[in-house]
Amino acid sequence: KKKTIRGTYTAAIDQGTTSSRFIIFDKEGQPQSSHQVEFPQIYPHAGWVEHDPFDLLKSVQTCIARACEQFVDRGFCLEDIKAIGITNQRETTVVWDTNTGKPLYNAVVWPDTRTSRLVHELKRREGADGLLERCGLPLSTYPSSVKLMWLIKHIPSVKQAYSQGRLSFGTVDTWLLYNLTGGIDGGKYVTDPTNASRTMFCNIRTLEYDDYLLDWFGVKGVNLPKIVPSSDPDEYGFMAEGPLKGTKIAGCLGDQSAALVGQCAFSPGMAKNTYGTGCFLLYNTGTEPVISENGLLSTVAYAFKGHKPMYALEGSIAVAGSAVKFLRDNLGLIKHSHEIGDLAATVKNTGGVIFVTAFSGLFAPYWIDDARGTICTPPLPPHALSTTNLFPRSHTVVGMTQYTTKSHIARATIEAVCYQTRAILDAMEKDSGTTLTSLCVDGGMSNSDICMQIQADIVGIEVDRPQMRETTALGAAIAAGFAVDVWKEFHELKGINREGRTTFIPHTEVSEREAKFARWTKAVERCKGWVD
Ligand code: G3P
Repeated sequence: KKKTIRGTYTAAIDQGTTSSRFIIFDKEGQPQSSHQVEFPQIYPHAGWVEHDPFDLLKSVQTCIARACEQFVDRGFCLEDIKAIGITNQRETTVVWDTNTGKPLYNAVVWPDTRTSRLVHELKRREGADGLLERCGLPLSTYPSSVKLMWLIKHIPSVKQAYSQGRLSFGTVDTWLLYNLTGGIDGGKYVTDPTNASRTMFCNIRTLEYDDYLLDWFGVKGVNLPKIVPSSDPDEYGFMAEGPLKGTKIAGCLGDQSAALVGQCAFSPGMAKNTYGTGCFLLYNTGTEPVISENGLLSTVAYAFKGHKPMYALEGSIAVAGSAVKFLRDNLGLIKHSHEIGDLAATVKNTGGVIFVTAFSGLFAPYWIDDARGTICTPPLPPHALSTTNLFPRSHTVVGMTQYTTKSHIARATIEAVCYQTRAILDAMEKDSGTTLTSLCVDGGMSNSDICMQIQADIVGIEVDRPQMRETTALGAAIAAGFAVDVWKEFHELKGINREGRTTFIPHTEVSEREAKFARWTKAVERCKGWVD
């Protein structure tokens, strides 16, 4: 007979931009069982990105079922899972009919740029300048507010539901929580402050919906989920179905906040950089929001019940892993994403190539909505234009030489994320008045040693990588575990994920770093103005 292993476990649903996972962690923060599935990305037009809300839900349900099977097969008991936390891609906008619980349109995903024109108009409207101060986010195509406005304006069924008072809005956390706890049969309709702070509807100081903002975006009649603490034993309800039916959901954090928690960056001055589909640097600023003067966002880091909410300055990079996917799927330069590091390592530098991967415009700290992907290598030879066929029309090839190989492009793709991280660190230094001495990293691209060495060489500070890189899921599990007393104080988590870390030390001179960064900045100038 198989040995039964008893203990205390917490689990996390991690619903990201390209895949979903379910991971069951022990009290030491080690995963004991996990499952991951990808789901379809829908690109109806250039710049549009959608998900089928039911694909998201089904992918999560599959992950839960498979990970639970594996957990039981290994001798663990499902009743030892004390609580479940949820973490999710942020800003992605789901709308459904309040009466039926059925989606009224596909989810509009955070990097979608269909709202460019709307944003351009809104920027000229009275009061636009005051939005950042009130909600922490600048007007751009990124937050949920403009996505919801677009849906109400352009999709007749959404417009009708809105005028009849039966339009429910939710970010992905809300959609999943609602369905996992029963849907139309009494499912919870809630969100947490880290997700709410990405909508532009929530006041960054009160952490409540702000009437002025709802009015400004013209969404006052929309049904909005109740904002509850990120870690709370009572507000999230219980799983309604599946192998974990009856298990409590007790935590919810947007994925970047979850990664900050998973890295145990609980003190002001601590930061983390997560390389996922995009790349997001969060810097803990303590119990007061800092409104950026340098192109960063002010966001809620986490808000646990019984604790003061904590805030972060955020630098958001729209394209990171998605550029690697682009090299794999659109250009066929690699077969598997993890090959990018090896390909880049076959050359010592990019051979002068700079790839500004602005597929969704450029986010922080630049905020250039009309930017598009640009590859440059000075000087520009006249024959360079003959290479344009290699790229889809929306990605402008400014110049290349015959010396350029796929290895150079691979390396330039990695460098693009690393340069944007450098630009964000510069902005963070200006906003916070402090200089980071080490950068904690996690997420897909951080698995590659070569990528992290390039990152250290570009930013000129140490890059510190944990052994267990599922920090986003761990953060959600921590939020849930805190609510049900698996952990009671933050200091109990001090030892979590500290062993086996790798440090990447920069090998570059200041002058070399500055010269290369100046070339990147010049390339950014070239990527502007490509949208009519
Ligand atoms: O703001 C978008 C972010 O939450 C998506 O994260 O990890 O899917 O790139 P990721």
